[in-house]
Amino acid sequence: MEEEPDEKIVLKFEQIADRLSDKGYAIVDNFLTPSEVRELLHVLTHHREQGTFKKAGIGTADQFTVDKQVRGDYIRWIEPQEALPPTKVFLERMNEVMRYINRTCFLGLKDYEFHFTMYPVGTVYQRHLDQFQTNDHRQLSFICYLNEDWLPEHGGNLRLYLPQPDGAEETVDVLPVAGRLACFRSNLIPHEVLAATRPRYSLTGWMLDQLNELTFL
Ligand code: OGA
Ligand code: MN
Repeated sequence: MEEEPDEKIVLKFEQIADRLSDKGYAIVDNFLTPSEVRELLHVLTHHREQGTFKKAGIGTADQFTVDKQVRGDYIRWIEPQEALPPTKVFLERMNEVMRYINRTCFLGLKDYEFHFTMYPVGTVYQRHLDQFQTNDHRQLSFICYLNEDWLPEHGGNLRLYLPQPDGAEETVDVLPVAGRLACFRSNLIPHEVLAATRPRYSLTGWMLDQLNELTFL
């Protein structure tokens, strides 16, 4: 039998689902515990030392271009089969989130994809949407921050642009503090990453309305 998630974490899932249906985005603190953050940081550091982080591109396969001005991060995709134990725990948590959201939000989520992310000091990701024109299977974006002792003066906010009924736009800034989860509707919420004075670490991913292996056929 599949193990049921504990009560405290189910409360977090509830917050995610409620706020997503209500406002199209959710910010939840302490989604990861301090020790989960530390273990994931160890894994991230291990991957970096192995040199498996790659400069991220913009768009998919044939229109893959790399432009530091637009997007400065380095990423390492997670292969679920080969994931180390802390990463497996994280993926299992995201699987539970997906099942919970499917029971409450009717987005028909079928799969997810995640990568470790590192923004060097001073780099940004300019305003964008997470759904590609050539691939609209990304339904929800998730970012889990891994930055211990992060202070407002370190910068690096995620800035969400929320469309208002009157056509105006409101902004919400999210400081990338350790354990915090930001998630939003990939096709509805433009967003950007502001420059930071320290390297900025996270796990970033998407929930898809199609199985991952079918997405790039
Ligand atoms: C992305 C992105 C936001 C963040 O990787 O597409 O928008 O806060 N990340 O890291
Ligand atoms: Mn994005």
